[in-house]
Amino acid sequence: MDNSLIFFRHQLRQSMRAKRLSLSASQQVHSSHSIIPHAISLIESYQASHIAFYLPFNGEISPLPLMNTLLEQGKKLYLPILHPFTSGQLLFVNYHCKTPLKFNRLGIQEPVLDVRNIIPLQELEMIFTPLVACDKAGNRLGMGGGFYDRTLAQAPHIISVGLAHECQQVEQLPIESWDMPLNHIILGASK
Ligand SMILES: Nc1ncnc2c1ncn2[C@@H]1O[C@H](COP(=O)(O)OP(=O)(O)OP(=O)(O)O)[C@@H](O)[C@H]1O
Ligand SMILES: [Mg+2]
Repeated sequence: MDNSLIFFRHQLRQSMRAKRLSLSASQQVHSSHSIIPHAISLIESYQASHIAFYLPFNGEISPLPLMNTLLEQGKKLYLPILHPFTSGQLLFVNYHCKTPLKFNRLGIQEPVLDVRNIIPLQELEMIFTPLVACDKAGNRLGMGGGFYDRTLAQAPHIISVGLAHECQQVEQLPIESWDMPLNHIILGASK
């Protein structure tokens, strides 16, 4: 185990989380709307209709304006839930504007689990992920749980798209063997 790599990733997570949290409310709103055209054209290019998103936490760029646009277009949207029995795993469940939500043990909002709403990973076409930092090669640094690395390793057919504020992109990320690179990254402009 390379301790300097672990330390570097830890330091980078702290500084990049502070950066995204320091954006003003109006910068957050601007950023979340600025990604919509690029995201829609990417989804159209894959003709995807079963797409997973996330609910924003800790200054992450909000996909909610994009999600509302997609729901109006009739796309089927899904959100991750922490697996109730298998630690480190996510389940994906259908989401619509009336889906009941609760805070999970990480303090992140997620749908209340109803097994009838689970979509098997095989049927998901795209996943939009949050991230702490990314680089131009598509590498991703998350919050440190390994949730998206596990999901993407289990389902290599899924097109992964990282969403971030432009201040979250760095020149080159320190990468571990298990990190799954993203297929695309869409950066939101904060002003
Ligand atoms: N495919 C996998 N199978 C088992 N463990 C994994 C897998 N991928 C990652 N992990 C473990 O998850 C832990 C956290 O990984 P990492 O630091 O890359 O998190 P992250 O990518 O920042 O998190 P997240 O995807 O949740 O945002 C590591 O200890 C790693 O060994
Ligand atoms: Mg990782």
